[in-house]
Amino acid sequence: MTEVSLLSLVKSYGGTPALRGISLKVGHGQFVSLLGPSGCGKSTTLRCIAGFEEVTDGRILFDGKDISRKLPEDRDIGMVFQSYALFPHMTVAQNLAFGLEMRKVPKARIAERVAKTLELVQLSPYAERYPKALSGGQQQRVALGRALVIEPAILLLDEPLANLDAKLRDEMRGFIRDLQKRVGITTIYVTHDQNEAMTMSDLVVVMFDGDIAQAGSPQEIYNTPATEQVARFVGNANILDLDVTASGAGTVEIALPGGASLAIPAPAAPAARSGIMAAPGRCAIRTTGSKRAMVCDAAGRPARPEPRGCRSGRGRTGFRCPCAARSPRR
Ligand SMILES: Nc1ncnc2c1ncn2[C@@H]1O[C@H](COP(=O)(O)OP(=O)(O)O)[C@@H](O)[C@H]1O
Ligand SMILES: [Mg+2]
Repeated sequence: MTEVSLLSLVKSYGGTPALRGISLKVGHGQFVSLLGPSGCGKSTTLRCIAGFEEVTDGRILFDGKDISRKLPEDRDIGMVFQSYALFPHMTVAQNLAFGLEMRKVPKARIAERVAKTLELVQLSPYAERYPKALSGGQQQRVALGRALVIEPAILLLDEPLANLDAKLRDEMRGFIRDLQKRVGITTIYVTHDQNEAMTMSDLVVVMFDGDIAQAGSPQEIYNTPATEQVARFVGNANILDLDVTASGAGTVEIALPGGASLAIPAPAAPAARSGIMAAPGRCAIRTTGSKRAMVCDAAGRPARPEPRGCRSGRGRTGFRCPCAARSPRR
């Protein structure tokens, strides 16, 4: 197992920065996802770690050793691409053996490692097939096997499931995570899919525009997004921009549309208006006078929680209705 550190990593293409000095530590055997919209620098980060791109500034350390200037073949990395990149004229077994042959591993040892890896990726019965005679999921497992057969120190995956249909993608998520745990290999996984990152990872690294906006456990990212942009991207954000009506000891009250008020912990910098994020199932709304409390969707449209909706635990806008326990029944 290997620890990976990025220290103020900068990558520019012809003066245009793709990475603006990112720092990150990936622990031994951790599964880390780089999550962000297209063009934010996820693949560039991965390619710098693999050595396919020369870094403009900053350093990359494997177990404390600077490998920034090493050739890709000297970095002990297994990589899986979205496109699979299998050799079409080679059988599954030959695809797996190729990397070992390049490394001049003895023939008997190659046969042994290929057989073991085929078992690991559940492809033993398909050893003599050619890639075109395999399903998308099977081809993806060949790509995974080809990365793992060389017994690399680090596994890098760049949107490996993007070409699969939704059901297969679900299955493959579980498959990859189980495999990673069994092998215990430090893994960096690139995805623009929030669900994928949140369900698979020990650590989620949210990136925008060449920078890391937040790195934390899926729970931290979900429950305490560092910025509004993170909250919106992770997808649980109903952000309300509302008037502050009163402030007390450590709390402020904000006015909700419809006349209800909401007490929230006081922000560090008090203001006349406050943006609050209503995360599913995580806001306490109370009623004022005879007015029912209301929740709104991201566009600010009031979503009046119906008793029927409350009983099922869901408001009209799809988030968990916090009023179920608090609102008086009609
Ligand atoms: N070879 C390249 N030459 C010039 N610009 C590039 C190159 N590769 C990536 N970029 C730019 O760097 C930014 C980050 O790209 P990339 O890392 O591929 O994003 P992501 O994988 O997050 O979608 C983008 O603006 C992209 O256009
Ligand atoms: Mg990419």
